[in-house]
Amino acid sequence: MLVTAGPTYEAIDPVRFIGNHSSGKMGFAIADQFASEGADVILIAGPVAIECKNKTVQRFNVTTAQQMYDACMKHSAKADVVVMAAAVADYTPVKTENKKIKKKEDTFQLNLKKNPDILAEMGKRKKKGQFLCGFALETNDEIENALKKLHTKKLDLIVLNSMKDAGAGFGYDTNKITLADASDKILTFELKSKEEVAADIVSYIISKIKLSGI
Ligand code: PMT
Repeated sequence: MLVTAGPTYEAIDPVRFIGNHSSGKMGFAIADQFASEGADVILIAGPVAIECKNKTVQRFNVTTAQQMYDACMKHSAKADVVVMAAAVADYTPVKTENKKIKKKEDTFQLNLKKNPDILAEMGKRKKKGQFLCGFALETNDEIENALKKLHTKKLDLIVLNSMKDAGAGFGYDTNKITLADASDKILTFELKSKEEVAADIVSYIISKIKLSGI
């Protein structure tokens, strides 16, 4: 199993970066849950302050989206299941300054370029029998946006988090998810601890794999 978790940091200069509020809790709970089911788990983690509970999880730390891309491409071909719970920065500065940027004008513009879409690339490279699960963190038109990601990135499953749900998403110990599969079947869950949410996701994936006979 290959699982990603946490944010990516994109350096602006030696002291500043573009990042997000992902704590890694959701992805780490999924890695732990797969490991407790007896799976060999590789976890690619962005910069987070937490540890896996299950010591059998093999963890690789990365900082940037490009590093996460490289690590995922290195390990994904041998994975039967890929779960991308990381919150990857979509853009990175065109240039990283090697000295701290000094305050001058009232406004300041930063040129950004697109990062590689790791999940979309994995969808393109998906091998026969591989199960690909992505996440979608949405603020509006949640189901519509999640289904669009599911189909354009050629996923088998997408886990939707809505920023409208209290106690769900970044940082919390709880989450509220909706699952959508490739046939647009939607399953909504109650607010639960991230460990319980991970157990729901993992048992859903295992039941799907058993049904498809992979
Ligand atoms: O870490 P926690 O604090 O526990 O919070 C959990 C979470 C909210 C971070 C997590 O559950 C979650 O929703 N992760 C995905 C957040 C996100 O970046 O969503 P997105 O809709 O922008 O990305 C869609 C999917 O594409 C994700 O699987 C993402 O990993 C992937 N992606 C995105 C951009 C990119 N350049 N490459 C990618 O692979």
